[in-house]
Amino acid sequence: MSEIAKIELGGQVFEFPVIEGTEKEKAIDISKLRDMTGYITLDTGYKNTGATKSGITFLDGELGILHYRGYSIEQLADKASFLEVAYLLIYGELPTQAELDAFISSITKHTLIHEDMKQFFEAYPAKAHPMGVLASMVCSLSTFYPESLDPNRSKEAKDLTIHRLLAKLPTLAAWSYKNAMRHPFMYPRNEFSYCENFLHMMFAMPTEDYKVDPVVVSALNKLLILHADHEQNCSTSTVRIVGSSQSNLYSSISAGISALWGPLHGGANQEVIEMLEQIHQDGGDVDKWVAKAKDKEDPFRLMGFGHRVYKNFDPRATIIKKACDDILEKLNINDPMLAIAKRLEQVALEDEYFKSRNLYPNVDFYSGIIYKALGIPTEMFTVMFSIGRLPGWIAQWKEMTENKEPIGRPRQIYVGATPRDYVDISKR
Ligand code: ACO
Repeated sequence: MSEIAKIELGGQVFEFPVIEGTEKEKAIDISKLRDMTGYITLDTGYKNTGATKSGITFLDGELGILHYRGYSIEQLADKASFLEVAYLLIYGELPTQAELDAFISSITKHTLIHEDMKQFFEAYPAKAHPMGVLASMVCSLSTFYPESLDPNRSKEAKDLTIHRLLAKLPTLAAWSYKNAMRHPFMYPRNEFSYCENFLHMMFAMPTEDYKVDPVVVSALNKLLILHADHEQNCSTSTVRIVGSSQSNLYSSISAGISALWGPLHGGANQEVIEMLEQIHQDGGDVDKWVAKAKDKEDPFRLMGFGHRVYKNFDPRATIIKKACDDILEKLNINDPMLAIAKRLEQVALEDEYFKSRNLYPNVDFYSGIIYKALGIPTEMFTVMFSIGRLPGWIAQWKEMTENKEPIGRPRQIYVGATPRDYVDISKR
């Protein structure tokens, strides 16, 4: 017999169905709650609220499990390419060789951005944060492809928009960096893979080629896979909610990029390095900074620690920690920030405050260190995260549109002033 949840209100009992996902997660379906009872639920930060049924990513925060379409993150990070994972997330299955070749070929053909868009870059100040530039540029793509404004077109038209965006984001990202440096833009090259092309556009100069190091390409491929999706997080929920108004893909993803920017979300990877530098400049006393993080009067938090859903360990952090050690060894990098990071990790993991609150290093604690080792400037870290997360955002947007989900519109409990008369300005 299927499970039923009962709520008693004013002496009356109301029954609600319990639904179960394929991984045995359970939810009380309260979609008829207001109609039946007149009540709503209150759940700030959506800590207990499922916003959708999704077949893309499964994670278990207690057990530290992360699967994309049923495949473990460990296997994908070890064996797959980023575009293969992108295909899996967006289309639901791992591609055959022919499907992957066609996908890569389509993406390779769309990496150029319209020459008129180049002028937009020049209008931004050199100090512009690349995340601000990226979000604006992605939304601007909609103005160059007006046919994309209707998200409910044919499958072919939708695929073209998706491929264009996957192809152009690395170009826009690299150019936002080149623009900040006031260096000439480097055009994409069709003979390079997705990751190689991005590195070429970032680091090559017209005066000299950039020799792409396979160690760097492999590290970047792994990092992008680890970030590719994470179910209903802040930026993904933003993409879905913007898309639920039937706004186009470019504007929905642009909103996701803006949501990712915040230091409590994707912006944490930049904050981690800035924090480590601050600790280094302050003399490297890790205990002092751990004490600051524990002090409730002090707003300082250990960036890269804690996670809304992982309360045991972040499986991505386990993979990335190992990758971090390998890369620093292979590239022969001896970074004082890394020594501070390791001490910080050790002190915090042994400290009762962090233990009792299940605060462990998250994926961003290590990704910043790797990006630094790869030569990526600090302000670009969250941009890198955006490139990685793009397939997940697209897959979630596509799923939401295909399921014809209703417009997202939460309710509230009003706690403001009760009705009162307007007071003339001379009497206030
Ligand atoms: N340093 C010190 N204390 C912390 C930290 C931290 N990094 N994170 C949480 N806490 C404490 C809180 O003060 C709170 O303590 P209390 O119970 O005594 O009040 C307790 O741990 C629970 O924290 P919440 O903020 O309620 O947890 P929530 O799930 O809302 O927040 C978050 C999760 C935002 C990730 C938080 O841990 C944080 O701010 N971490 C630092 C920023 C960061 O690394 N963000 C990246 C997340 S990963 C990602 O988005 C890709």
